[in-house]
Amino acid sequence: MKTSLIISSLGFAAAIAFSPLSHAADAAAGEALAKKEGCLKCHAIDKKKDAESLKGIAKKFAGKPDAEAKIMTQITSGAKVKLEDGSEDEHKIVKTKDKAELSNMIQWILSLK
Ligand code: HEC
Repeated sequence: MKTSLIISSLGFAAAIAFSPLSHAADAAAGEALAKKEGCLKCHAIDKKKDAESLKGIAKKFAGKPDAEAKIMTQITSGAKVKLEDGSEDEHKIVKTKDKAELSNMIQWILSLK
């Protein structure tokens, strides 16, 4: 009896550990990194500032299979962008080199839609 209980709870733990949910963004870490990298200075979470809101970006990329790759390029290549006031600048390049951390931040942004 006891053994089967232990076995079934182990099965449950494994089910949680390997469920797709475990791939969901760690929202707190994603937001913290966006703050640390200064993204939120130009992109507010849900309203337009110098640039599109992160929610607006999430909506634009929703359902696009290459969303993560596109955003990764946006924040690592320094392409020219137009600010809301019409001036042009090179997009911010992240200081963080850890792809897993960046990927988590991107997934957090995409989850805001
Ligand atoms: C100095 C201001 C500024 C900072 C800081 C900044 N961005 Fe941007 N970003 C812009 C502007 C301006 C654009 C282009 C116009 C727009 O999307 O409103 C842009 C575009 C983008 C796009 C593409 C949106 C699209 O519609 O294709 C993404 C994604 C993005 N930024 C993410 C980030 C992330 C993540 C960070 C933090 C690492 C960041 N940005 C930091 C100003 C900024």
